[in-house]
Amino acid sequence: MANLLGRIFKKKIQEPQVVDLQPSGDQFTVEPKQTLLQGALSTGIPFPHECRVGVCGKCKCRLVDGKIKSIMDFSYTLSKEEVEREYILACQSFVKSDLTLLMDHQMDGCQYAVKTINGVISKSESLTHDILKITIKLDEKINYSAGQYADLSVPSIKEPRSYSFADGPINEGNTEISFFIRKVPNGEMSSWFHGADRTGEKITVTGPYGSFYLRPSDQPIICIAGGSGLAPIKSILEQASKQGGNIPVLFLFGARTQRDLYCLNEINKIASSWNEPFHFVPVLSEEPLDNDWTGSRGLVTEYILDQSGIQVSSSNAYLCGPPGMIDAAINKLNECGVVTDQIFFDKFLDRRHTQLKR
Ligand SMILES: Cc1cc2nc3c(=O)[nH]c(=O)nc-3n(C[C@H](O)[C@H](O)[C@H](O)COP(=O)(O)OP(=O)(O)OC[C@H]3O[C@@H](n4cnc5c(N)ncnc54)[C@H](O)[C@@H]3O)c2cc1C
Ligand code: FES
Repeated sequence: MANLLGRIFKKKIQEPQVVDLQPSGDQFTVEPKQTLLQGALSTGIPFPHECRVGVCGKCKCRLVDGKIKSIMDFSYTLSKEEVEREYILACQSFVKSDLTLLMDHQMDGCQYAVKTINGVISKSESLTHDILKITIKLDEKINYSAGQYADLSVPSIKEPRSYSFADGPINEGNTEISFFIRKVPNGEMSSWFHGADRTGEKITVTGPYGSFYLRPSDQPIICIAGGSGLAPIKSILEQASKQGGNIPVLFLFGARTQRDLYCLNEINKIASSWNEPFHFVPVLSEEPLDNDWTGSRGLVTEYILDQSGIQVSSSNAYLCGPPGMIDAAINKLNECGVVTDQIFFDKFLDRRHTQLKR
């Protein structure tokens, strides 16, 4: 009898649970092995999120009714008041009963459902001494918004890593996608890509993820990219160019030396198709003084300045690159009068180690 009850109970808790999201009225189901966030994203609910490891706090929502099991202590990320008021992090919650949730901030996620798709690496090209462009041919189409990212898995490496889509998306979905991969010293996945020509190797793509994408607006935009952070910025600008290139742009691209600059032809192509002012400023921080570089030098943040057609304080800013560059750029933009709501960024965090350190 106890065994039978145990089996019935086990079956009960293994059933998908239904989540009722207020005030939108959206409903979705969460499978037993999914987190609350995974359930929402695989149904195409635009649930806000970014890091998916409990750090950014973007997926917070209020548990009005039902039971969850938390993966981490929410007080690492949420305030004491929020925890007391039953706020939870969707990316760090397993669902143990039907739920009612209150989302009291903007549902600014992307509407494309997260899918896992198999593919094959169809091309691998060197862009700089430490950045590769890899192209993947997929078995079926994927939809994403420019600026978003996907998790890439290869059979020989246990955990996936995140990489930003590098091309502007096609409306009807892409069967070919590309990524810029920077070699990280002793990095397992990036060394695998850089270690040999991986053309023909199998690869699995899960996505799209992330809330870093171009918001509809007439305001000028300031884009700041550092290193492989060029990928989502290029994708955003390609998408905006297809939509007419009708907003003024200041685009700052930070690199160490001339040999770290890449995709300049693609950027010039975007700039030449643009219908409003497009100021592209590559900025080199470590270029030796005794050579032929006549362009800008120093830190990209020093070049956040008003330009013809662009008043910094009334611009939206899109930032992508190393966390240090992003933090410095946010400070400078705030000093120039750009409020936090107008600043969107994508930090290339080391997600795996961020998770393990906790
Ligand atoms: C949303 C998102 C988008 C990303 N997009 C891109 C992209 O478009 N292109 C790209 O090249 N990378 C991107 N990354 C980083 C990428 O996911 C991996 O972290 C990176 O490629 C290193 O993986 P690895 O397996 O080589 O290193 P691991 O084996 O995971 O780590 C090896 C060592 O390197 C350190 N390390 C890991 N990642 C980084 C890092 N990013 N910077 C500095 N040190 C690190 C680790 O702490 C560890 O000491 C993105 C990350 C996130 C979260
Ligand atoms: S804390 Fe959940 S997505 Fe960042």
